[in-house]
Amino acid sequence: MTKAISQIMFEQANLRIEGPHRRWLVARHPVGPITEADFHYVEDIVPVPPPGKYLARIVWLGIDPKQRLLMNATPRNVELVPLFSPLFSYGVGEVMLSNHPKFQPGDIVWDIFGWQSHALMDGTGHYVNNPFGTRKVKPEYGPISTALGVLGNGGLTAYFSVLRELNPKAGETMLVSSAAGNVGSIAGQIGKIFGCRVIGLTSTDEKCRAVIEDFGYDDCINYKTAPDLAAAIRKAAPKGIDVYYDNVGGPIAEAAASVLNPGGRVTIVGIVGNYNAVTNGKAWTWPAHQVKSQFIYHDYHAEFDDGLAQLAAWIKDGRIRYREDVIDGFEKAPAALIGLLNGGNIGKRIVRVAPNPDGIA
Ligand SMILES: NC(=O)c1ccc[n+]([C@@H]2O[C@H](COP(=O)([O-])OP(=O)(O)OC[C@H]3O[C@@H](n4cnc5c(N)ncnc54)[C@H](OP(=O)(O)O)[C@@H]3O)[C@@H](O)[C@H]2O)c1
Repeated sequence: MTKAISQIMFEQANLRIEGPHRRWLVARHPVGPITEADFHYVEDIVPVPPPGKYLARIVWLGIDPKQRLLMNATPRNVELVPLFSPLFSYGVGEVMLSNHPKFQPGDIVWDIFGWQSHALMDGTGHYVNNPFGTRKVKPEYGPISTALGVLGNGGLTAYFSVLRELNPKAGETMLVSSAAGNVGSIAGQIGKIFGCRVIGLTSTDEKCRAVIEDFGYDDCINYKTAPDLAAAIRKAAPKGIDVYYDNVGGPIAEAAASVLNPGGRVTIVGIVGNYNAVTNGKAWTWPAHQVKSQFIYHDYHAEFDDGLAQLAAWIKDGRIRYREDVIDGFEKAPAALIGLLNGGNIGKRIVRVAPNPDGIA
């Protein structure tokens, strides 16, 4: 049987290419909570990079609430993922073949690769989702998977939103929703570094324990079991809330608003509580006069290197702790996203697609 050209090229290059090319495609625009039937699995041969592109073997994929938003037919402020395309996803991979002058086989790279086992990339940015293009991961900062969490969009979001938008001051009280998650777990710890009393909100007692014991929050409220959430926040914050870090929107944000001190600051980092509901182009928003900012971490991409260096230094000196919630196997990506939207994660949820390159943590 005649061999595919790609197979011949791989054999000639004597590279360890593990096929096939596996992809999870968005099969339809879901309404309401997603199910595995909203995705379609396909296998093909691993492609060869044409001039100007490199081929990455994906090692880790990040699971992000925004992925749900991008599946909607009418997303807000973001571009839709076309039907029968891999779902938008940050990933960490290893360059296997390169026809691109800036990338060499063996480079560890971070980009939006999509839900697939291999990706052909040109390294350039995308004006909506990824203005910075492919970035090389620095394994000296920590395990390469952290480029999807504490040393990726989660850590950078927490870092720039807290430092540049909220400016917490020593002695202030900071409230963080989705406090056990990727962004929330880091945001609260940065608030602590700046001397705040930090209170978390999350959905289970187990997650509350992690918020206090692992992430060093002063207090945590289980918003699902609190009979009156505003009263529970007021009890935990007798002097009121000075800074509210909003990851979720909806009724939780309304309860937080009722306890916000005059002049209190809010940053809307996300409204994950609404992502299943946003089908008409509209979403819950804070009243304009109460909002200091609606945050997009891409706005700070020129300063990512500085942010990552500071986060890595805080991890090294023990002031920032992080957790990863590893789901093993590319085939489990849809279940991993469904579970995240149901609150199943503590820390950053990531999918292991393939083993790390030899000798790389
Ligand atoms: N603006 C930016 O640049 C930027 C960048 C990255 C992320 N984000 C946003 O930041 C937020 C957190 O993202 P992440 O990656 O750190 O995710 P995450 O917090 O690790 O995971 C999502 C969490 O959302 C919570 N959740 C789900 N449905 C909810 C609901 N109906 N009401 C309240 N909470 C709900 C669950 O936590 P509980 O168990 O606590 O309910 C779940 O564990 C998201 O809104 C995301 O879109 C924004």
